[in-house]
Amino acid sequence: MAKLIPVDEFDLVIFGGTGDLAMRKLLPALYHRDRDGQFTGDSRIIAASRRDITRDEYLGRVETALKNSLKEGEFEDSQWTAFRDRVHYVQADAGNPEAWSGLSSMLGEHPGRDRVAYLATAPSLFGPIARGLKQNGLVTATSRIVLEKPVGQDEASAREINNAVGHCFAEDRIFRIDHYLGKETVQNLLALRFGNSLFEPLWRLNAVDHVQITVAEDLGVGGRIEFYDRIGALRDMVQNHMLQLLCLVAMEPPASLHHDAVRDEKIKVLRALRPLTEANVKTNSVRGQYNAGTVNGEPAVGFDEELGDAKSTTETFVALKVEIDNWRWSNVPFYLRTGKRLKDKHSEIVVQFKDVPHSIFPQQKYGVQPNRLTIRLQPDEGVRLSLMAKEPGPGGFDLQPVSLNLSFEETFGLRYPDAYERLLMEVLRGNPALFMRRDEVESAWKWIDTIIASWEATEQTVETYVAGSWGPTASSLLMDRDGRAWRPDN
Ligand code: BG6
Repeated sequence: MAKLIPVDEFDLVIFGGTGDLAMRKLLPALYHRDRDGQFTGDSRIIAASRRDITRDEYLGRVETALKNSLKEGEFEDSQWTAFRDRVHYVQADAGNPEAWSGLSSMLGEHPGRDRVAYLATAPSLFGPIARGLKQNGLVTATSRIVLEKPVGQDEASAREINNAVGHCFAEDRIFRIDHYLGKETVQNLLALRFGNSLFEPLWRLNAVDHVQITVAEDLGVGGRIEFYDRIGALRDMVQNHMLQLLCLVAMEPPASLHHDAVRDEKIKVLRALRPLTEANVKTNSVRGQYNAGTVNGEPAVGFDEELGDAKSTTETFVALKVEIDNWRWSNVPFYLRTGKRLKDKHSEIVVQFKDVPHSIFPQQKYGVQPNRLTIRLQPDEGVRLSLMAKEPGPGGFDLQPVSLNLSFEETFGLRYPDAYERLLMEVLRGNPALFMRRDEVESAWKWIDTIIASWEATEQTVETYVAGSWGPTASSLLMDRDGRAWRPDN
């Protein structure tokens, strides 16, 4: 287990403190960190929201939320008693900062402490809350602000938010969350690439045939349907999580782990992405939406039915063929796909190497398959290298694909901390390496905006797929056309 570094005494204010994110992710993550002894002194978690409720009522909600989301045995009465002492509630309407006296006086008790404002609210409130903090004199030398994704819904709105927040906080005090960067396995990508000399000489066009990145979910959109219907899979998943994964796979080795060294390399990748324009968008992208079907043995209704039979053209699935125009990756496609209500929940990155240039093994049952490095992000986190080996036996010389398998769970045997645990601690330590810089967010939006504009201009249709499948047939065809296939074969 990595060394536990206690964080200095802090006041963490969660705007949107009664919301879904706070209850399902942030408070359980904080509970775990407190349970492991990472908090010092009387560090406080101050939930802020519009609701007129008492602290006791709020604590009642937190207790229920923790019991719902923690695994068996993780909720302990003694630990809860200690944790609840840290949790406070204050009524503060984000849109009315003149009435934040409760918050001001609470924070005023410890003006010198590390102070973090976590904005788990709609992005339209990011600017007003940042201004409210400033107007009320709550931004101190040690203050930081955390913005949940999405930062806007296109480049223009992201810029507007970044400008508004940037008037009140310096860039190195603004922490834009992409929770994928907090996942242990995503950080392991850095370890794999730069903690081993084995891969780097092969990590380029000479040896790599293509890369595929899949983030598949079996769940539908649930209670967020109205929000999701405005956003769609491209904005919800590709603009942030998928592009971040692509950047970590494709970037040049940074000179150090310094936050700007890593982010400087990622931004170069974003800037080198070939735009999907009206001329090439149809060939290089697939939009899909789920119909009724069966997921994990249970019947699942279609997206339109969830919406109340409205006819929506929002994509719940997207597959893209992406080219990176630089020396390392010229003509090495990156295929991305993500969707809701797919066959199962898994996220993985597959780096497929080139075929052997000449086979000395004729007539093979399995052919001579190319090597593949699979980085499994979730579940069953691990790394798998597929190789060809000789089938044992005295006769013939038959090859068979086999795998070198590294399961992180078996190797380290630990509970994997949730991404938010790591990210919250990084904010409290003031380390922005795992957060998105302003230029990254805006560049990612710029590339996404072009796809959306091209879809609109070419009136690209949304293909349907059966819930519980691997997406529309067009997604397989996207690969098939290039003589490739999604891994595993689906
Ligand atoms: C969120 C998206 O950012 O990521 C959700 O808004 C999605 O739609 C979620 O379900 C997936 O996260 P994870 O960690 O479960 O893969």
